[in-house]
Order: sequence, then C-alpha cells, then structure tokens
Amino acid sequence: IKTFLLTDRLLRERLGIERIRLVNTHKGTYGHVLAVAGSRQMSGAGLLCAKAALRTGCGLVTWAVPDQLAGPLIGHVPEVMLAGIADGGRGDWSATSPQDILSWVADKDAVAVGPGIGRFLQGEKWLSALWNGIPCPLVLDADALNMMANAFEKWPRRQAATILTPHPGEMARLLKISVQEVQKDRIGLAREFSLRYGVTLVLKGAQTVIATPEGAAFVNTTGNPGMATGGTGDVLTGMIASLLAQGHNAVQAACLGVYLHGRAGDQAAARLGESALIASDIIDRLSI
Ligand code: APR
Ligand code: MG
Repeated sequence: IKTFLLTDRLLRERLGIERIRLVNTHKGTYGHVLAVAGSRQMSGAGLLCAKAALRTGCGLVTWAVPDQLAGPLIGHVPEVMLAGIADGGRGDWSATSPQDILSWVADKDAVAVGPGIGRFLQGEKWLSALWNGIPCPLVLDADALNMMANAFEKWPRRQAATILTPHPGEMARLLKISVQEVQKDRIGLAREFSLRYGVTLVLKGAQTVIATPEGAAFVNTTGNPGMATGGTGDVLTGMIASLLAQGHNAVQAACLGVYLHGRAGDQAAARLGESALIASDIIDRLSI
C-alpha cells in the first residue's frame, strides 16, 4: 500500500492527467454539473460552489436551490442556470422532495450535494434517496456528510464514482470518534475508510489526504493557513464536481481538485497575504 506526495509531476506522470482543450469541441464536451447547495442563511456557499465549478472548466452548471431563493439569486452568477426546487416557501431544503431534485439529474455528468444545505428533520432519508437515485459521479460535502453519519455503513454501494470531502470535524462525526483522534492518524483513518466503504475520501485541512478505494493515499503539497476561512471548502467541492463532469475518474478529480485549490490559495496568499485571503480569492486565482 502506497502513500504519495501530491505534486504537479505526480499528477501528470502517475495519474495520467491531461488538461488540454481540443479545438473542435463545444460546451457539451466538458460536461454539466448539478450543484445541490445553499439555503436561506448560506446561499453564499452555493454561489461559491457553482462558480468554482465553472472556473474549473466544465461546460455548464445548474444550481439547484430552494424555490424561495431562486428569485433573489437571479443575476448573481449570470453563467449559472438555476433550478428552483419546491420548498413550501421556507427557503431551505426541509420540505423539498428528493424526487424533485432527481428530476434534474438525468442529463448531468456530475452532482455535488452539501455546501450550505444546513441540517433538517428527515435529512438522512432525503440524502439516502439522492445517494441511491443519482446515477452519475457524486461529491458529498458539509451537512450532507453530517446527515450520512448516523448509519451510512448500511447504505448500499453506489455504482458511479463517489467522493466524500470531510473536514476533520465531519470525519470525526462519520467515524464517531473525536477530532483529536482523527488528527492523530489522518492517513491511516482515511485509507481504512475508503477501503471499507469503496469511496474516494478527501480528508481536508493542512496537508489534505486523498484516499482511494484501492488503498492508495495522496498527501497534498499545496495550500496555506490563509485558507482556513469560511467558504473555501465549498469552492473545493465545486472544483471536484467540475473535474468529474469533464470525465476525470474519482481519484484524478479528487487529487487534481485538491492540488489546484491549494495552488490557487497559495497564489492568492502571495498577493494578499494569508490573513486577508477569502474564499472568492481562490476562485479568482484559478487558472487552469
Ligand atoms: N492549510 C492548508 N489548507 C487549509 C488549512 C491550512 N491550515 N486550513 C483549511 N484549509 C483548506 C482545507 O483543506 C479545505 O480545503 O481550506 C478548506 C476548508 O474547508 P472547510 O473546512 O470545509 O471550510 P468551509 O468551506 O468554510 O466550510 C465551513 O461548512 O463543512 C461545513 O461544518 C462546516 O459549516 C461549516 C462550513
Ligand atoms: Mg465545509
């Protein structure tokens, strides 16, 4: 079982990642992301996720939002399409039906669920319906991970690629252990989790670890403490979904996404200083 340092060279040589756009292509070539993200108090998380997906090169992004929010959001990201989901007037996901969300999935190439969705009653059932109903590659983050934590061990394995992106607190909830215990053995726990559940796991934080269902682990070499600021994780989720939509496999998308996210964060910090850095700056520095 191997552990690799995630560098530009490793991405090219070992993971075989190509990042050229051919001349004779169109937006359909680069895939369509559905982002299920944001709610009344955290619409910004969805905005960051959708925008980061676009900046990472997919052809189209549709952002699913509780109906109540769709109006106010019009015009905020002109490039993004909005899918308003019936929400009983609440502006959150608590009264939305997974079937309504799934009706937007058929023509999508990757789906991201979680940034800014908040927690709600029946959230576990809601999420497991998405887990089972989404046929394409899926990234789960933030409160989607918290909603899984209770009993996901019993959920059936998904056929398509599945990437989980917990920060140490979310990982602790998934494993039902403390954050300190997570941080003591980041590589070991990430590897064990991926092997056991057949998912690609991105354990975030300084030196993010990516673990694969085959038992390999990668440790990222980019990024800085300036990135410890609200919304940077939402940016990463959008980036990884975008790479999945463009046809990268789960390991490629997770590794490349984490590497580029950190690199953009390093460039933003070089310009602004670590303390001034905010999540939008990472999107602004993306150059892919
Ligand atoms: N060095 C390098 N990278 C870092 C560092 C650091 N010291 N600190 C944070 N990062 C990176 C992480 O690797 C990750 O990519 O910044 C990102 C932070 O992601 P999150 O922890 O998910 O932060 P955020 O997007 O603000 O999410 C906060 O969402 O996950 C929920 O419970 C969470 O409500 C909270 C919200
Ligand atoms: Mg987060």
